[in-house]
Amino acid sequence: MTDASCPLPAPYLMPCQTDEGGELVMRVIPMPADANPNGDIFGGWIMAQVDLAGAVLPIRVSRGRVTTVAVNQFIFKQPVSIGDLLSFYARVTRVGNTSVTVHVDVFAERNPAEPHVVKVTEASLTYVAIDAQGRPRPVQPG
Ligand SMILES: CC(C)(COP(=O)(O)OP(=O)(O)OC[C@H]1O[C@@H](n2cnc3c(N)ncnc32)[C@H](O)[C@@H]1OP(=O)(O)O)[C@@H](O)C(=O)NCCC(=O)NCCS
Repeated sequence: MTDASCPLPAPYLMPCQTDEGGELVMRVIPMPADANPNGDIFGGWIMAQVDLAGAVLPIRVSRGRVTTVAVNQFIFKQPVSIGDLLSFYARVTRVGNTSVTVHVDVFAERNPAEPHVVKVTEASLTYVAIDAQGRPRPVQPG
Protein backbone atom coordinates (compact mmCIF):
# COMPACT_ATOMS: atom_id res chain seq x y z
CA MET A 1 0.00 0.00 0.00
CA THR A 2 1.57 3.31 -1.08
CA ASP A 3 0.44 6.85 -1.69
CA ALA A 4 1.98 9.90 -3.33
CA SER A 5 3.14 11.42 -0.04
CA CYS A 6 4.87 8.24 1.07
CA PRO A 7 6.15 6.16 -1.82
CA LEU A 8 7.69 3.02 -0.40
CA PRO A 9 9.45 0.20 -2.18
CA ALA A 10 7.32 -2.89 -2.58
CA PRO A 11 9.18 -5.21 -0.18
CA TYR A 12 7.82 -3.42 2.90
CA LEU A 13 4.77 -5.18 4.31
CA MET A 14 3.82 -2.32 6.58
CA PRO A 15 2.42 0.85 4.95
CA CYS A 16 2.97 4.51 5.80
CA GLN A 17 -0.31 4.79 7.69
CA THR A 18 -2.50 2.49 9.74
CA ASP A 19 -6.26 2.24 9.39
CA GLU A 20 -6.50 4.00 12.79
CA GLY A 21 -4.69 7.06 11.40
CA GLY A 22 -1.23 6.29 12.78
CA GLU A 23 1.62 7.79 10.79
CA LEU A 24 4.85 5.89 10.17
CA VAL A 25 7.46 7.83 12.15
CA MET A 26 10.36 5.37 12.48
CA ARG A 27 11.69 1.98 11.43
CA VAL A 28 14.53 0.13 13.14
CA ILE A 29 15.99 -3.38 13.35
CA PRO A 30 17.09 -4.55 16.83
CA MET A 31 20.58 -6.04 17.03
CA PRO A 32 22.06 -8.79 19.23
CA ALA A 33 23.39 -6.16 21.67
CA ASP A 34 19.75 -5.13 22.36
CA ALA A 35 18.76 -8.61 23.62
CA ASN A 36 18.09 -9.69 27.20
CA PRO A 37 19.44 -12.93 28.75
CA ASN A 38 16.45 -14.84 27.30
CA GLY A 39 17.47 -13.87 23.77
CA ASP A 40 14.43 -11.60 23.25
CA ILE A 41 14.83 -7.84 22.91
CA PHE A 42 15.20 -5.97 26.21
CA GLY A 43 12.03 -4.09 27.14
CA GLY A 44 14.00 -0.99 28.10
CA TRP A 45 15.43 -0.79 24.59
CA ILE A 46 11.91 -0.95 23.14
CA MET A 47 10.76 1.78 25.54
CA ALA A 48 13.61 4.02 24.41
CA GLN A 49 12.68 3.53 20.74
CA VAL A 50 9.01 4.25 21.49
CA ASP A 51 10.04 7.41 23.35
CA LEU A 52 12.05 8.55 20.30
CA ALA A 53 9.30 7.68 17.83
CA GLY A 54 6.63 9.26 20.02
CA ALA A 55 8.47 12.59 20.05
CA VAL A 56 8.29 13.05 16.27
CA LEU A 57 4.73 14.41 16.06
CA PRO A 58 4.94 16.58 19.21
CA ILE A 59 8.11 18.21 17.83
CA ARG A 60 6.30 18.85 14.56
CA VAL A 61 3.08 20.07 16.21
CA SER A 62 4.86 22.37 18.67
CA ARG A 63 7.53 23.43 16.16
CA GLY A 64 10.34 22.99 18.62
CA ARG A 65 11.94 21.13 21.46
CA VAL A 66 9.91 18.76 23.66
CA THR A 67 10.56 16.57 26.67
CA THR A 68 8.74 13.46 27.86
CA VAL A 69 6.66 14.16 30.97
CA ALA A 70 4.68 10.91 31.25
CA VAL A 71 4.34 7.37 29.98
CA ASN A 72 0.60 6.93 30.48
CA GLN A 73 0.41 3.35 29.25
CA PHE A 74 2.87 0.80 27.88
CA ILE A 75 1.88 -2.70 26.75
CA PHE A 76 4.31 -5.37 25.57
CA LYS A 77 1.91 -7.54 23.58
CA GLN A 78 4.45 -9.91 22.02
CA PRO A 79 8.20 -10.43 22.39
CA VAL A 80 10.49 -8.72 19.88
CA SER A 81 13.25 -10.76 18.24
CA ILE A 82 16.69 -9.88 16.92
CA GLY A 83 16.36 -8.99 13.23
CA ASP A 84 12.66 -8.01 13.33
CA LEU A 85 11.94 -4.96 11.20
CA LEU A 86 10.05 -2.70 13.60
CA SER A 87 7.67 -0.02 12.29
CA PHE A 88 6.47 2.68 14.69
CA TYR A 89 3.15 4.45 14.03
CA ALA A 90 2.11 7.51 16.00
CA ARG A 91 -1.04 9.60 16.21
CA VAL A 92 -1.79 12.64 18.33
CA THR A 93 -4.59 11.95 20.80
CA ARG A 94 -4.57 15.27 22.70
CA VAL A 95 -3.11 18.74 22.32
CA GLY A 96 -3.12 20.73 25.54
CA ASN A 97 -1.75 24.15 26.39
CA THR A 98 1.89 23.03 26.64
CA SER A 99 1.56 19.26 26.18
CA VAL A 100 0.94 16.81 23.34
CA THR A 101 -0.17 13.23 23.97
CA VAL A 102 0.45 10.53 21.38
CA HIS A 103 -0.49 6.89 20.92
CA VAL A 104 2.26 4.69 19.45
CA ASP A 105 1.73 1.26 17.87
CA VAL A 106 4.71 -0.94 17.00
CA PHE A 107 4.59 -3.74 14.44
CA ALA A 108 7.30 -6.32 13.68
CA GLU A 109 7.90 -7.76 10.23
CA ARG A 110 9.68 -11.06 10.74
CA ASN A 111 10.96 -14.12 8.95
CA PRO A 112 11.85 -12.63 5.54
CA ALA A 113 11.67 -16.09 3.92
CA GLU A 114 7.97 -16.27 4.79
CA PRO A 115 7.22 -12.74 6.00
CA HIS A 116 4.47 -11.92 8.44
CA VAL A 117 3.53 -9.00 10.69
CA VAL A 118 2.95 -9.04 14.45
CA LYS A 119 1.79 -6.14 16.64
CA VAL A 120 4.33 -6.15 19.47
CA THR A 121 3.80 -2.99 21.52
CA GLU A 122 1.46 -0.10 22.10
CA ALA A 123 1.89 2.93 24.30
CA SER A 124 0.61 6.37 25.21
CA LEU A 125 3.07 9.13 26.07
CA THR A 126 2.79 12.82 26.89
CA TYR A 127 5.42 15.36 25.83
CA VAL A 128 5.74 18.95 26.99
CA ALA A 129 6.94 21.70 24.66
CA ILE A 130 9.85 23.49 26.34
CA ASP A 131 11.84 26.65 25.71
CA ALA A 132 15.61 27.06 25.74
CA GLN A 133 15.57 27.08 29.57
CA GLY A 134 13.58 23.83 29.73
CA ARG A 135 10.40 25.59 30.86
CA PRO A 136 7.00 24.69 29.43
CA ARG A 137 5.94 26.86 26.48
CA PRO A 138 2.62 27.01 24.62
CA VAL A 139 2.29 24.36 21.93
CA GLN A 140 0.56 26.82 19.65
CA PRO A 141 1.97 30.29 20.32
CA GLY A 142 -0.21 33.34 19.95
C1 LIG B 1 8.14 18.35 31.75
C2 LIG B 1 8.41 19.55 32.66
C3 LIG B 1 9.15 20.63 31.85
C4 LIG B 1 7.05 20.09 33.09
O1 LIG B 1 7.28 21.18 33.94
P1 LIG B 1 6.17 21.60 35.04
O2 LIG B 1 6.59 22.85 35.66
O3 LIG B 1 5.86 20.41 35.88
O4 LIG B 1 4.94 21.94 34.07
P2 LIG B 1 3.38 21.93 34.34
O5 LIG B 1 2.99 21.44 35.69
O6 LIG B 1 2.94 23.30 33.93
O7 LIG B 1 2.84 20.87 33.27
C5 LIG B 1 3.11 21.06 31.89
C6 LIG B 1 2.18 20.17 31.09
O8 LIG B 1 2.49 18.81 31.39
C7 LIG B 1 1.30 18.14 31.77
N1 LIG B 1 1.64 17.12 32.75
C8 LIG B 1 2.32 17.28 33.89
N2 LIG B 1 2.41 16.12 34.53
C9 LIG B 1 1.78 15.20 33.78
C10 LIG B 1 1.52 13.82 33.91
N3 LIG B 1 1.95 13.13 34.97
N4 LIG B 1 0.83 13.20 32.94
C11 LIG B 1 0.39 13.87 31.87
N5 LIG B 1 0.59 15.20 31.66
C12 LIG B 1 1.28 15.84 32.63
C13 LIG B 1 0.41 19.22 32.36
O9 LIG B 1 -0.96 18.83 32.31
C14 LIG B 1 0.71 20.37 31.41
O10 LIG B 1 0.01 20.19 30.20
P3 LIG B 1 -0.93 21.35 29.55
O11 LIG B 1 -0.16 22.64 29.63
O12 LIG B 1 -1.13 20.91 28.15
O13 LIG B 1 -2.17 21.38 30.37
C15 LIG B 1 9.23 19.18 33.93
O14 LIG B 1 8.41 18.36 34.77
C16 LIG B 1 10.48 18.41 33.56
O15 LIG B 1 11.45 19.02 33.11
N6 LIG B 1 10.48 17.08 33.74
C17 LIG B 1 11.61 16.25 33.36
C18 LIG B 1 11.45 15.85 31.90
C19 LIG B 1 12.50 14.85 31.47
O16 LIG B 1 13.65 14.95 31.88
N7 LIG B 1 12.08 13.90 30.64
C20 LIG B 1 12.94 12.85 30.21
C21 LIG B 1 12.77 11.73 31.14
S1 LIG B 1 13.95 10.50 30.85
